[in-house]
Amino acid sequence: MQNNTFSGLFVGQNLVILTEVDSTNNFLKQSLANSTPLTEGTVIMAESQFAGRGQQQNRWHSEPGKNLTFSILLKPSFLAIAQQFNLNVAISVGIIKALQKLLGHAVKTKWPNDIYFDDNKLGGVLIENMVQGSQIKNSIIGIGLNVNQDVFSPDAPNATSVKQILHRDYDLKALLAEICGEIEAAYLMLRAGNFEPLKSFYLGNLYWLNQLRPFKANDEVFNGTIENVSPTGQITVRVDGELRLYNFKEIEFLNKHNTQ
Ligand code: BTN
Repeated sequence: MQNNTFSGLFVGQNLVILTEVDSTNNFLKQSLANSTPLTEGTVIMAESQFAGRGQQQNRWHSEPGKNLTFSILLKPSFLAIAQQFNLNVAISVGIIKALQKLLGHAVKTKWPNDIYFDDNKLGGVLIENMVQGSQIKNSIIGIGLNVNQDVFSPDAPNATSVKQILHRDYDLKALLAEICGEIEAAYLMLRAGNFEPLKSFYLGNLYWLNQLRPFKANDEVFNGTIENVSPTGQITVRVDGELRLYNFKEIEFLNKHNTQ
């Protein structure tokens, strides 16, 4: 489907809206496996996903018709696999910039790329890369964002939505267009080799950066300070003067929803 709502050059220019699908990431993956010709920037959006996927084999639950659940196809063949975290950074920057226009500076990235508003989760990103040789051939950027849902399951005590923050409904397509525009801008910077401003925006808007906070890793609860994120995407935490690096899922943030 062609559309004119999107002001960018390619992200969202080909927008496919599905009433129901298992997962928009799966749909894109399947389309690529079937050699369906898809232009870079194609967006698959679903009104309802019956098997939405989150990170680490988690499910992504979203009330049908109320939220944004979509996947963007990118072809970052200029990136080596070792640089894949740079793509995560660019995507987070795009999403955070779009949401901060609407919700202000309480919107942050919780490492590696959860979308937070204060201490609550507004959305998440699931990036799946397909590799050819040592380069990334295709990248499926799955984004779930709570927009107009106002009641969440007790299993998600820290979930929030744009509606819970603004106390009004927000137009899904307008928000999608805003996010696609900012992702395109960040992606073009990445493609042009202009990564430093992206990294510094990512760090400047990182949840708990430079704050002494409680964490848990290897069954140990400790206070530490996030100082950086390494080029390969590990989080750098200073604990009693010592610098520790953790991979995703090796460290838990003990915020008010997740105390020990
Ligand atoms: C997370 O926080 O665990 C990531 C959630 C990603 C959810 C989105 S919704 C659109 C796309 N399709 C999926 O099945 N997952 C992603």
